[in-house]
Amino acid sequence: MDPLRVAVVGSGPAGFYAASALLAADLPVEVDVIERLPTPWGLVRLGVAPDHPNIKAVSRAFEKTAAQPGFRFFGNVEVGRDVTHEELRQLYDAVVYSVGAQTDRQLGIPGEDLPGSWAATEFVAWYNGHPDFQELEFDLSHDRAVVIGNGNVALDVARMLALTPEELAPTDTTDAAIAAINGSGVREILVVGRRGPVQAAWTPVEVGELGDLAGADIVVDPADLELDEASEAELEAAPPTVKRSVEHLRDYATRAPAGRPRRIVLRFLTSPVAILGEGKVEAIEFVRNELVDGRAVATDERETIPCGVVFRSVGYRGVGVPGIPFDERSGTIPNEGGRVEPGLYAAGWIKRGPSGVIGTNKKDATETVQLLLEDARSGTLPPRGNETLEALLAERGVEPVLYAGWQAIDRAERGAGEPHGRPRVKLSSWIDLLDAARGD
Ligand SMILES: Cc1cc2nc3c(=O)[nH]c(=O)nc-3n(C[C@H](O)[C@H](O)[C@H](O)COP(=O)(O)OP(=O)(O)OC[C@H]3O[C@@H](n4cnc5c(N)ncnc54)[C@H](O)[C@@H]3O)c2cc1C
Ligand SMILES: NC(=O)c1ccc[n+]([C@@H]2O[C@H](COP(=O)([O-])OP(=O)(O)OC[C@H]3O[C@@H](n4cnc5c(N)ncnc54)[C@H](OP(=O)(O)O)[C@@H]3O)[C@@H](O)[C@H]2O)c1
Repeated sequence: MDPLRVAVVGSGPAGFYAASALLAADLPVEVDVIERLPTPWGLVRLGVAPDHPNIKAVSRAFEKTAAQPGFRFFGNVEVGRDVTHEELRQLYDAVVYSVGAQTDRQLGIPGEDLPGSWAATEFVAWYNGHPDFQELEFDLSHDRAVVIGNGNVALDVARMLALTPEELAPTDTTDAAIAAINGSGVREILVVGRRGPVQAAWTPVEVGELGDLAGADIVVDPADLELDEASEAELEAAPPTVKRSVEHLRDYATRAPAGRPRRIVLRFLTSPVAILGEGKVEAIEFVRNELVDGRAVATDERETIPCGVVFRSVGYRGVGVPGIPFDERSGTIPNEGGRVEPGLYAAGWIKRGPSGVIGTNKKDATETVQLLLEDARSGTLPPRGNETLEALLAERGVEPVLYAGWQAIDRAERGAGEPHGRPRVKLSSWIDLLDAARGD
């Protein structure tokens, strides 16, 4: 029997969990993982905070998948640019899209595009060495930075801004970002949530970490923890994770500042209405909210807070791939359980939206693959041709980075990190990455 040929587009957790489930199937399967960057692992390499090396170590499980017979990696190949969906459909029995969420959600307020107002997505990609974001210049000279949003990404951004040179030194944060954070004039990082402490999206381990930073005090106003009746009831019925997060906040509210050089201040029930400034961010106008049926509703109380830089951390957003269906409203590929139609599937953030931790993508991708295999067994997959991706790319002059090329990048990065006690020093320009992949 001819092996089932499957293309998985995107090499983040969803792509690797899909590949792993496919290679574990009880029929012969060949999987080509196609990735626009020269490097695999998606947000595990380029999103997860560099001071969380244990989380980044999940890539070891992905390395095991990559070592299995039937697996191939085609980095430096962007679907929609180097190869179209229609071409993939001809080359493979089935295509799984696991392209993540490539951009940010907007606040939709005046001043959002002023210089100094950044999407968290940009800052995160910059400090993690994403080659498309290395030209950005963050002015951290003002003494107050504001982070909008109460999710884990907002906490990553706040924490990264607050790390000391000693905390940054053993990480794989890019050298440019380490220099900028070490030289930063930011003394206060104000994290602002539109709803209350009970409704925050973050998780307790991440909230708890804020209390252990060497270089920053954590400040919570006890008044912000006086809950209205509905929030009190919500907390009572909430899962233990929410209760633990609120306990951390209650602990912080009792702490006196210890005089550390920076402070992270958490504010709740507050929304930005405008980002203000002449040619660059100088202040934010906020409105105080009250909760009505769990929603944030603006009151008349307004306040303007000076600040020099804003990080909008209100969620990521999926981007469509030319030639396949896309729902603009949710930023996802419309699907049922991961099936778009026989032969076309989705997994991960582009399937369900930009939420969930790395492990969430395992169940999600496995569900998708089960439907794909069902379609294969029932003979509903559309017919394919006999061309190969490598022939098509060669015809087009596209030079893919194969898995051995990524391993050469990996060796070069680890080798550069070792003498400094760092897990790696990332190559962060396209030229350096492609040279290292070729062994130059
Ligand atoms: C800043 C941040 C920090 C996080 N930290 C943690 C954490 O500490 N712990 C945790 O458990 N979870 C964390 N998460 C969540 C976790 O990263 C996600 O759940 C997970 O990465 C989503 O997987 P995915 O495969 O859907 O998308 P991604 O990881 O984004 O992977 C998508 C891949 O597709 C590629 N791609 C996109 N378009 C194309 C195209 N047209 N052609 C080819 N390739 C393409 C991209 O380059 C990328 O490599 C974090 C998320 C963020 C944003
Ligand atoms: N260490 C980790 O495990 C880790 C680290 C980073 C990320 N992640 C995961 O990755 C996923 C994405 O994280 P995320 O932080 O980007 O998203 P998220 O968890 O969805 O949080 C988004 C935050 O933005 C707020 N928000 C949305 N629109 C807003 C608006 N117009 N004005 C003000 N606030 C607004 C939301 O508030 P509302 O609730 O009011 O909408 C919420 O607080 C999450 O599942 C997260 O847990 C995990």
